[in-house]
Amino acid sequence: MKIGIIGSGAMGTGIAQVAATAGNEAVIYDSNPAALEKAKNQLHATLNKLAEKGKITLNEAGHIFGRIFFGTSLHSFTDCNIVVEAIVEDLGVKQKVFQEIEEVVSPHCILATNTSSLSIASIAAACKIPGRVIGIHFFNPVPLMSLVEIIPAIQTEKSITEKAIEWVAFLKKDGVLAKDTPGFIVNRVARPYYGEAIRIMEEGIADCATIDKAMTETGGFKMGPFTLMDFIGADVNYRVTESVWQQFFYEPRFKPSFSQKRLFEAGYFGRKSGKGFYDYSEGAIQPEANPDKALASNIFRRIIVMLINEAAEAVLFQIGTPHAIDLAMTKGVNYPKGLLRWADEMGVASVVAELDALYDLYREDRYRCSALLRKMAAENKNFY
Ligand SMILES: NC(=O)c1ccc[n+]([C@@H]2O[C@H](COP(=O)([O-])OP(=O)(O)OC[C@H]3O[C@@H](n4cnc5c(N)ncnc54)[C@H](O)[C@@H]3O)[C@@H](O)[C@H]2O)c1
Repeated sequence: MKIGIIGSGAMGTGIAQVAATAGNEAVIYDSNPAALEKAKNQLHATLNKLAEKGKITLNEAGHIFGRIFFGTSLHSFTDCNIVVEAIVEDLGVKQKVFQEIEEVVSPHCILATNTSSLSIASIAAACKIPGRVIGIHFFNPVPLMSLVEIIPAIQTEKSITEKAIEWVAFLKKDGVLAKDTPGFIVNRVARPYYGEAIRIMEEGIADCATIDKAMTETGGFKMGPFTLMDFIGADVNYRVTESVWQQFFYEPRFKPSFSQKRLFEAGYFGRKSGKGFYDYSEGAIQPEANPDKALASNIFRRIIVMLINEAAEAVLFQIGTPHAIDLAMTKGVNYPKGLLRWADEMGVASVVAELDALYDLYREDRYRCSALLRKMAAENKNFY
């Protein structure tokens, strides 16, 4: 199979590496020749490094690199079976590029987009054959993250979805089917990890360090929410938050915070700018976490029930199956456990009780418990 990849940035380069490693021929093209050259050097260096570390032989590295071609125009995609688009996150630009690709590929070629936030239906709508357009959403860094969300649009033909699932399995990735709704699974279900953490901080219940420690030590998460937001960058994370909220017709559960908006406006993008929720400048004094164990437990439980509520809403609205949602959060953002499995372990009734207590206190829609959880608690049911 021959895979075309348009856009040789972080994602396109990773997708090319993974496809060629699995045995596909991959042709990658970027409208910016410097970006393509950079991708070429990077792929060469990465494969050599893997060989040095003994993960693959030098011979294999050579074969993998030999399966990657660097195109000079869209015409390089003529005989591709699948073209994956990983260019700038702009609907107009993506639609135009899809129309141009349609002119050069065969009618049987699958057209996939790696978009994180745009609707697949809106990209498909610009095409002559919308039924062959699908979302295939990889996670960064592509070679390390095994999750891939497969998102058929309402126009996508069933056979295209089946072929996309087959290809993702061929790449030895964990494919999950997700509905074409904002944030798909991961970028939707993960919102409270950031939003509720910021809310707790804004109310003065605890500071960043205390909340981060509660989530890593009590919750077992790899990175606390503030460390993670600083790592992602307020520019990216704030934009995603705002976009998901707007696309959900201003659903209060997804409402962004002023704290993050101000960091975004100030250019305090986290690690990359030297300042975010934390100060990364040399010699900066880092805040110390409050050692109070009861406080840590309260913080953890508040954030985890909000995450479980979001995962339950995603099941209720059939964004994904419970299995797909748990797989997505463990493989896409490295959660220590699936949220719905966590709900079973905590007891669905106790999750409902904690959400209701928050709702009673605040009387905000943000804290309303999912009807699915309430129904399950009443029927004494578990997800698994
Ligand atoms: N970076 C992530 O963490 C991540 C994760 C999942 C999905 N995505 C999505 O993947 C896509 C790419 O993201 P990225 O981080 O790799 O971006 P990037 O900025 O690193 O790379 C994009 C590349 O596309 C090229 N490009 C732009 N317009 C083009 C055009 N018209 N024709 C050909 N090439 C063009 C640019 O020159 C650039 O090299 C976006 O849709 C993004 O939302 C990103």
